[in-house]
Amino acid sequence: MRGIKILGTGTYMPDTVASNDWFSTILDTNDEWIYSRTGIRERRISEDKPNWYMAVEAANAAIKDSGIDPAEIDLVLAATCSPDYFYPALSCIVQNRTGASGAAAFDINSACTGFINALDTASRFLEDSDYRNVLIVASERLAPHCDYTDRSASILFGDGAGAAVITRNDKPMWSYLSAKGDFFSALWCKVDHSRSNCPLLKPDALPEGLLDTEAKTHTLQMNGKAVYKFAVDAMETAVHKVLERSGLGMEDIDLYIPHQANARIIESAVKALGLPQDKVYVNLEKHGNTSSACIPTCLAELRQAGKIQDGMTVCLVGFGAGLTSGAIVFNQ
Ligand code: UT7
Repeated sequence: MRGIKILGTGTYMPDTVASNDWFSTILDTNDEWIYSRTGIRERRISEDKPNWYMAVEAANAAIKDSGIDPAEIDLVLAATCSPDYFYPALSCIVQNRTGASGAAAFDINSACTGFINALDTASRFLEDSDYRNVLIVASERLAPHCDYTDRSASILFGDGAGAAVITRNDKPMWSYLSAKGDFFSALWCKVDHSRSNCPLLKPDALPEGLLDTEAKTHTLQMNGKAVYKFAVDAMETAVHKVLERSGLGMEDIDLYIPHQANARIIESAVKALGLPQDKVYVNLEKHGNTSSACIPTCLAELRQAGKIQDGMTVCLVGFGAGLTSGAIVFNQ
C-alpha cells in the first residue's frame, strides 16, 4: 500500500513585498492589468536570503510541526528549479541544517510540478519499510532568473518555500505524472557558460527551437500563451486521469489544491471539470507563482487553519516547465 500521511508542514516567505504598484514603477504595466489577467496583487522577493536559507526555514518549521525528531527522517527530497549551487544538491544543505543526519538526500527538478513528483517519489520510498519519514522541501528564489524588463513574465513569479514531513499511511493514494518534452521550448532558462575560461569552449549548441542570445542567457524565457493553453488542458487531464485510477468521483474529493500560476488558468480548468469553487484552494493573490513551492505553501496554510484533517481526501494538481504535469489523490 502506497498511502501517505502529512505529519507536519512549514513555509517561509521573504519579507520584501513586490506589489503590482511597484511593478508599475519599473515597467509599463498597472495593478488593473495584472490583477485582472492573473489574480495576483503581490509576491515576495528574497533580496538577500539564498534559496537554501528559505528551504531550511520551511523544513525546520515542518519538522517542528510534525513533532518527530529529525533523526527519524530517512530521506530528504528537495524540489527546486532555482538552486544556489549546481552541487551539492539543495537537499544535502537542508539535511545538514535540519539535523536529519541519517537521511539520504537528493533533488528533483521538474519546475512547478516539482512537489507533485517529489511526493510521488516519497510515497514509493515509503512502501519500503526502511524508510519511515520523508522530508520534502520545495523552495524557489526565482527573482535572480526573471527578466525585469519582460512585463508578461516577471509579474507572475515570487520567491518562497514550503515543506512537508510525510509518513506511511494504510489508506491508498493514486498519482498520474506526465511530461511533454515536445514543448520544452515554451518555458526555459539557460545556464550561463560564458564566464568559462576554458580556451577551447565555443558557444553552446542549442536544441532546435531555442533562440538564445547573450541577453537571454540565465533568464527565464516563456511563451505565455503556449503555457496557458497547455496548463488548462494539463490540469483537466491530470485530474481526470488520477480520478480514473482511483475509482473516485469528483464529489469524493474534499479539497483540490492546484498549482498557483494564474487565477484564470485555475478558473478555466475548474469550470471545464465542473468542480465546486469552494473546494478549490487559491492563494496566489498574495504570493504569485512560487513554482514548486506553491502547493506545499497551500498545504501549510490550510493545515495551520485547521482545514486539513485526518480522513480527508485531497487532490493536488500541478504543471510547469518541461512541460510537465501531474496529480495526486491521497487520504490524510
Ligand atoms: O508555472 C507556469 C508558469 N507560467 C504560466 O503560468 C504562464 C501562463 N500564461 C499566462 O499566465 C498569460 O499568458 C500571461 C499572464 C503571461 C499573459 O496574459 P495574456 O492574457 O495571455 O496576455 P497576452 O500575452 O495575450 O498579451 C495581451 C497584451 C499584449 O499587448 P498587445 O500586443 O495586445 O498590445 C501584451 O504586450 O497585454 C500586454 N501585456 C501587458 N500589459 C500590461 C503583457 N503583459 C503585460 C503587463 N501589463 N504586465
